[in-house]
Amino acid sequence: MAKRALITGITGQDGAYLARRLTDEGYQVHGAYRRSASLTTWRLKEIGVLDDIQFEPFELAEYNNILRTLDRVQPDEVYNLAAQSFVGISFEQPLYTSDIDGIGVARLLEAIRCVDPKMKMYQASTSEMFGKVQAVPQTETTPFYPRSPYGVAKLYAHWMSVNYRESHDMYTVSGILFNHESPLRGLEFVTRKITSSLARIHHDGKGEMQLGNLDAERDWGFAGDYMNAAYLMMQQETPQDFVIASGRTHSVRDFVNAAASALDMSIEWEGSAEKEVGRNQKTGEVVVRVNPKFWRPAEVEQLLGDPSRARKSLNWNPEVNFEQLVEKMVLADVKNVEAGLLPSRTLE
Ligand code: NAP
Ligand code: GDD
Repeated sequence: MAKRALITGITGQDGAYLARRLTDEGYQVHGAYRRSASLTTWRLKEIGVLDDIQFEPFELAEYNNILRTLDRVQPDEVYNLAAQSFVGISFEQPLYTSDIDGIGVARLLEAIRCVDPKMKMYQASTSEMFGKVQAVPQTETTPFYPRSPYGVAKLYAHWMSVNYRESHDMYTVSGILFNHESPLRGLEFVTRKITSSLARIHHDGKGEMQLGNLDAERDWGFAGDYMNAAYLMMQQETPQDFVIASGRTHSVRDFVNAAASALDMSIEWEGSAEKEVGRNQKTGEVVVRVNPKFWRPAEVEQLLGDPSRARKSLNWNPEVNFEQLVEKMVLADVKNVEAGLLPSRTLE
């Protein structure tokens, strides 16, 4: 009989890639979605799994809804991807973020314990938990020091997952995933903001984008590779947490340069802090401006993960490197602009 998986956060970037991975493995996939005025199904459609998913209305704030969903679906594996996932907003909505990303995970763990503690659970932990990093590179044993309400909430969830494993002998695993991106990334995250904005500027022959901290460094990988790792973590004899990262770090400025270069554009930088601008070398026009509005009250300056344990124990081999990822995203956004699929105005 086909294995059954319940994916929370099915409408997000990772939900799409994981749904693809699991349907390819022959799973019956149940997608837990949050009810809203307009259900976001474009990612599932784009990746070709929309018709394979059985949708379940689901809300991490509602314990009884979680309980009834688990009871009805009886999944072998639960992948908890649902979250308020935008770090910037967590400073403005710390209580909501704590409730969904922190307590919501306690609700889910407790509901699994009630319905059937044999259900396996994957928790979407994050490199944001390393925050003000205590060692470089970060591994599974690096101490945590979160720098945002999002990171703090995720750290609570992370330790709850460990605690249920150790107290109740449940199969819970946390993937400590570093930033992972794709053409399906939300437009408010910096990578997609850059690729969509540059694609539009390239198409229109004019325009500029406003960014925040250009010096922040991230370890960026491809979401498809990272959801493969999530799947592998759930297939092990013994549940264990893993760092999933590329092992390379780049600044936001590096990302802009790489994205511009995929469009045959070269950027010249001048000035510093909020006065820094990036000019199109050919035309002299400003294409990047710094707007302090996008600076965060506390910043994670640099993330760099060491995925050695995952490479060795899970035999995890990512297929897309940084340069390929940037190119993939830029080319997808060039097509989106040409097809009129990008909104003319975004909120972040
Ligand atoms: P995403 O695109 O923002 O997707 C988040 C998903 O959670 C959406 O489907 C959203 O539904 C759902 N959701 C939000 N609040 C909910 C609630 N109260 N109840 C039920 N569902 C809710 O995020 P992602 O990039 O796919 O990331 C997936 C997970 O991995 C998140 O937990 C994120 O924090 C974590 N993570 C991501 C990265 C990364 O670089 N992408 C790295 C480390 C960890 P709507 O469509 O209704 O908004
Ligand atoms: N979003 C955004 N917009 N970020 C900007 C901008 C901007 O205009 N300008 C500079 N940045 C900087 C941010 O300050 C941050 O240092 C970096 O770009 C990356 O920001 P995001 O793309 O928003 O991602 P994040 O690192 O804060 O969080 C993502 O990765 C985490 C894993 O480390 C999210 O996917 C989280 O859900 C995930 O846990």
